[in-house]
Amino acid sequence: LFYGPSGGSVEKVARMIERMIGRDKIDLIPIKEADAGKINQYQNIIFGLSTVGKHTWDMDVPEDAWSAFMPELEKVDYGNKRFALYGLGDHITYSLHFVDSLGTVAKELMQHGAAVIGQVDPSGYEFQDSDAIIDGRFAGLPLDEDYESAKTPERLQNWLDIILKEFK
Ligand SMILES: Cc1cc2nc3c(=O)[nH]c(=O)nc-3n(C[C@H](O)[C@H](O)[C@H](O)COP(=O)(O)O)c2cc1C
Repeated sequence: LFYGPSGGSVEKVARMIERMIGRDKIDLIPIKEADAGKINQYQNIIFGLSTVGKHTWDMDVPEDAWSAFMPELEKVDYGNKRFALYGLGDHITYSLHFVDSLGTVAKELMQHGAAVIGQVDPSGYEFQDSDAIIDGRFAGLPLDEDYESAKTPERLQNWLDIILKEFK
């Protein structure tokens, strides 16, 4: 599981996943420490990220760890790998851009021919618009620790049940 940023809700959820799957079955790696070579050591990969959209600031956002990592995706060997993504967002304050980054990273992976699994039906969510909707479904699992943290354990468990079956 490659996650970023560190120290917030994305990392909190990464640790929840670690507990649910079992410490001995998963490695947690901060995306700021990852490169293509590290990704290539694994077949079954979870990406954890959040959306802190550029449009929400009136100044330029400094490069975050995911933006810095993105060029590494060009060097990944996509054969025989599966990717599942979860994205932290805030469905109240950013209803028009709910978990947008989930879509950005998923689309980038798909452009490289990656197998992306773990799409989620949007019917369980309230939001106005999202770049993470691809062909009518969220490209991964949206989570909102700001306003819907009570829903996180069940959403995670349902999603993990599905992706763990699809991982090789
Ligand atoms: C400046 C700022 C901009 C944000 N923009 C979005 C957004 O566009 N869409 C969204 O769903 N959430 C947005 N959020 C909410 C975060 O994604 C959410 O709080 C998330 O849990 C942060 O996790 P992290 O602290 O691990 O990065 C924004 C939060 C901040 C502080």
